[in-house]
Amino acid sequence: MSFQDFNFLGKKVLLRCDLNVPLDDQGNILDDFRLQRALPTIFFLRKAGAIIILLSHLGEPQGIKNKRKRKKQLTLKPIGQRLSELLREKVLFSKKNKGRSVRRLIQKMKPGEILLLENLRFDQGEEQNSLKFAQQLARLGDVFVNEAFSVCHRAHASVAALPQALPCLVGPELFKEFNFLSQILQKPPRPLVVIIGGNKTQSKLKVIKRFLDLADYLLLAGESANLVLAAKGLWPSHPLLPAEDMAMLQDIKLTDPKIYLPLDVLVSSEPNGGGIIRQTGPAGARRDEDIFDIGPETISVYQEIIGQAQTVFWAGPVGLFEVKAFSHGTRAIASAIAQSQAQLKLAGGGETVAALRKFNLTDDFSFISTGGGAMLSFLAGEKLPGLEALGLL
Ligand code: 3PG
Repeated sequence: MSFQDFNFLGKKVLLRCDLNVPLDDQGNILDDFRLQRALPTIFFLRKAGAIIILLSHLGEPQGIKNKRKRKKQLTLKPIGQRLSELLREKVLFSKKNKGRSVRRLIQKMKPGEILLLENLRFDQGEEQNSLKFAQQLARLGDVFVNEAFSVCHRAHASVAALPQALPCLVGPELFKEFNFLSQILQKPPRPLVVIIGGNKTQSKLKVIKRFLDLADYLLLAGESANLVLAAKGLWPSHPLLPAEDMAMLQDIKLTDPKIYLPLDVLVSSEPNGGGIIRQTGPAGARRDEDIFDIGPETISVYQEIIGQAQTVFWAGPVGLFEVKAFSHGTRAIASAIAQSQAQLKLAGGGETVAALRKFNLTDDFSFISTGGGAMLSFLAGEKLPGLEALGLL
């Protein structure tokens, strides 16, 4: 049964969202993009008379040894408060995410009410993909809805095991994300131009390898470009690069004419932009300097290619855009995509979303993926446990 056809009236709905938002050291929310994306489905379920139980993780609590510190730093409580502001509705919060007390609380809820459960990853069963934990969660609801595409690459209990324990539905936003990303892989309007920047080189190299078969142009920047420049001997003064990245490059045909690399770059010995910034070809960078942005010549070549595209996919800023002196490349590429006449303009990944929000360009894209790792895994052709559990793969 589809989400739209299901009768939610009076049903207890376990809605898996990804409320894993970036926080600063004080626990303040730095970007609420993912919360905004959860709103339409919550509104829909409210209107349909469901009892809404929100499930999510936040950060990696198991990495924090001290339990009290873990609970203080990574509680979902403040996220619930922000959600409540955005929804203009009360969002109840439960310190526990399973057990009799939570079931009692839910029993008292009326249709349309919303409850957020505490961080699922406080329970080891979540990351262990424990069926027992999934069954404990399943006892809280009548139906499970997955709206968390960005967690579907994780074989975790609330993503992979829960659909085995409860009737499940594909959330409309997740389905939209799945369809948009699938379009890039299956018959995209051509030319298909793919721009890969940022870090997370291991996942990005897999995507680059896949798109050598699928894309018409592959424009590289950021750390992936740096690796290729180094491997091709075009950046002789490069620092020591991760051995596993260099090993992965051996599977990629670096001489493929679809691959475009920066012709000029901004280099400095100071990543905060405080030092002397020089514009040079990668070969002209000195040993004490690193590459922090693409230069004007590269921008102009990339802009021209983007201008011809019918489909554009962009993952990863092309420079250290958080620092003003190195933000020009990312702004120029984002604007070129925003202004292009391409039929399909897609972007994704935490930093790319942050850049687009900073430059106020999100509305100029056909779709922005909430996923970082999940989006890259999907595009690299990997099987995502969360999508398999929903029967989408
Ligand atoms: C993400 O931020 O990509 C998702 O929320 C998954 O988080 P994770 O990388 O901690 O599993």
